Amino acid sequence: MTVIAKPEPGVRALVDAPALLPATIAKPDLISVEQAKAMDVARITDLFKAHLNPGQLHFMKLLGFHKVKIERAEGMFYIDQNGREILDFFGGFGSLAFGHNHPRILEARKKFQEEKRQEIAIAFMSQYAAALAHNIAKCSPGDLDMVFLGSSGSEAMEAAVKLAERAAGPKRPKVVYAENSFHGKTKGVLAITDGQLYRAEFRVADNAVRIPFADIDAVERLFKSDPAIGVIVLETIQGGGGIIQAEAQYWRKLRALCDQHGVLWVADEVQCGYGRSGRFYAFEHYGVVPDVTALAKSLGGGKAAVGAMIARRDVYMKAYGTPKTAMIHAMATFGGMGEACITAIEALNVLYDEGLIDNAASTGEYLLQRLRTLKEKYPKIIKDVRGKGFMVGLEFHDFSQTLPMVLRPVVSVLDDKLKGSLSGFVGALLLRDYDVLVAFTEYNRNVIRLEPPLICQREHVDRFVDAFDSLLSRGIVAIVKDFVKSQVR
Ligand SMILES: Cc1ncc(COP(=O)(O)O)c(C=O)c1O
Repeated sequence: MTVIAKPEPGVRALVDAPALLPATIAKPDLISVEQAKAMDVARITDLFKAHLNPGQLHFMKLLGFHKVKIERAEGMFYIDQNGREILDFFGGFGSLAFGHNHPRILEARKKFQEEKRQEIAIAFMSQYAAALAHNIAKCSPGDLDMVFLGSSGSEAMEAAVKLAERAAGPKRPKVVYAENSFHGKTKGVLAITDGQLYRAEFRVADNAVRIPFADIDAVERLFKSDPAIGVIVLETIQGGGGIIQAEAQYWRKLRALCDQHGVLWVADEVQCGYGRSGRFYAFEHYGVVPDVTALAKSLGGGKAAVGAMIARRDVYMKAYGTPKTAMIHAMATFGGMGEACITAIEALNVLYDEGLIDNAASTGEYLLQRLRTLKEKYPKIIKDVRGKGFMVGLEFHDFSQTLPMVLRPVVSVLDDKLKGSLSGFVGALLLRDYDVLVAFTEYNRNVIRLEPPLICQREHVDRFVDAFDSLLSRGIVAIVKDFVKSQVR
């Protein structure tokens, strides 16, 4: 007889005696959908800690976000358990161009479900994937015609880099990327994501070469000196790096240098694309077209996980154009899922029908203007205001050396990156006292990132800026003290 060793407390034993398995499978203690919706914040927090990310909970608690349970979300607002409306200037890191639960997008999804249409795109030809690819190509300039569909920005960027590497060929294996870049956290793109926070001690591909962002001389020197360079990957506007832009001249010269040296340019538009900058792609501001690009975030209409790599046809054909090479990087299991595709199709139609790209340009400019006025009012607090359309960064001065000595230990409760940064305090207090949600940028924690939905109107901008103004008028010392009070409550 096989004896099953009693497991150590907390350890699940692997049963190695099939004869002892019960005849039928008992249902584990599962939470139902309705129970999930009804959970209170304490229970959510417990489960987050037990099963998701205990370390992250530390930051949620610091910022006071763990006390909020969102019951609904509509348009520009989250609505919490107490009926409080929270103005969303975070916009899901740019994934909510249409705000929350846009009615036309919801309707398209509902209809698709009622009609019991098929989801999987990799068995039969999918009319939904084909139509979405067509629409994306129509929105893309030049011969950016070939589309790969995935389900995240990282996956789209993995596809972009793989395609470009194959098209560049084995004699030109090196991939150039920029300082402070963010292209995703999956293992492949980690090699071109320039953050120690994400790189940690992972071993990444050794064919990546780093250069400063927005420095065309560095690009030229490198292309001239190293014939093994085959690909350059750049965010058109750096998001995680702190909303950083390069001059128009940089992009024009970059295009010319790539043509001259036969280097393929991959433009990461996962964050700045899809109308956020006031053009469908941010590179369109500069009258240039890359060889490969990538979209994600709002491509799924705020309801589905959709990412896309878009490539010039000749580049695509070089990499995967024959029956023999076609399957090397064909769509994954969830690539081109039916409901995700029709969500993205309807979303693209809404984007143009509602003039949201134009709105991002004009209302985004209004936001920038109002913030520039605030900068004049608070020159000792606000260091810079920058961005394009609804991709806006507001940088605070580092105050670690100017804060009264007694308050300095307070900032040490935050992580290293937040030390000397007002962003954490401001973010927490904007939520607590003004019902407004904002985000930081990954590498520069002195920068508040404002990426409201593209449906954002002037009245929302006014409400946000007035709240921000009121908070800053307390002064830095009071802001830090108010934050501390929120911690001990
Ligand atoms: C520029 C850029 N590229 C890639 C990604 C990765 O996208 P995802 O988080 O959907 O994998 C992001 C995400 O923030 C991004 O901002």
